[in-house]
Amino acid sequence: MASEQKVAVITGASQGIGASLVKGFREIGYGVVATSRSIRASEFASDAEILVIDGDIAAASTADRVVSAAIERFGRIDTLVNNAGVFIPKPFIDYSEADFMRMTAVNLAGFFHIAQKTLSSMLWAGSGHIVNITAAIAEQPMASLPAGLAALTKGGLNAVTRSLAIEYAGRGIRVNAISPGVIMTPMHSPETREFLSGLQPMGRMGETQEIVNAALYLERTAFVTGEILHVDGGASAGRW
Ligand SMILES: NC(=O)c1ccc[n+]([C@@H]2O[C@H](COP(=O)([O-])OP(=O)(O)OC[C@H]3O[C@@H](n4cnc5c(N)ncnc54)[C@H](OP(=O)(O)O)[C@@H]3O)[C@@H](O)[C@H]2O)c1
Repeated sequence: MASEQKVAVITGASQGIGASLVKGFREIGYGVVATSRSIRASEFASDAEILVIDGDIAAASTADRVVSAAIERFGRIDTLVNNAGVFIPKPFIDYSEADFMRMTAVNLAGFFHIAQKTLSSMLWAGSGHIVNITAAIAEQPMASLPAGLAALTKGGLNAVTRSLAIEYAGRGIRVNAISPGVIMTPMHSPETREFLSGLQPMGRMGETQEIVNAALYLERTAFVTGEILHVDGGASAGRW
């Protein structure tokens, strides 16, 4: 019989928002399967309830290994936080084919493989929750930070969030998204912080804990599905 402990799979777990999500889900007692390319089991050796699987999330084989290991170790997957992502801001005509391949591989294929395999397990169990980490810039583009491929990929994740929420609402599965403004993580170099702070009406960057708080709100609020929760200091509210 599966244990009572709930289990979250968190992608992009080695640093930034993903590393904080691992901590946040552990604090509410979940077992966690943490995955990214560079993540190392030795970093989490002191916590037996964190299972570490390394691999490139764009590869279907990584999704297979993550889901198989999660079921073998914990017997269930309650929640998937699809957090792994890359951001390449550029004028659209300057994007290379390599930029396109990288952004679609991580942001879209990286969602597709793990979401499909996780959903199969959730459907078998009759319950589950998928949370996609998208980006405010997909819905609120800014002239000062052109990022067409972020809009294409994260906008796709926003769209599929609503699509899957409807497809699976009657089968016990919720699908939500968190749309962050600029968050203080290793994604951004320190010298860009002043410029990036100005991209939020609140005049600051967000903290990773503020994304964790949003994820835990969605986790606890069972009547919410198909939601794109903006955690962006007001950026999606309008012009300022
Ligand atoms: N920070 C922001 O301002 C901001 C704003 C809007 C949205 N977001 C979104 O929030 C999410 C997390 O961002 P962050 O700021 O925490 O980024 P980050 O500090 O750059 O961390 C990105 C994470 O994704 C993993 N990752 C990247 N490529 C991968 C691949 N091919 N396979 C597996 N894992 C991969 C990285 O681990 P490895 O290098 O070990 O693989 C790392 O754990 C992303 O989806 C990002 O688009 C961030």
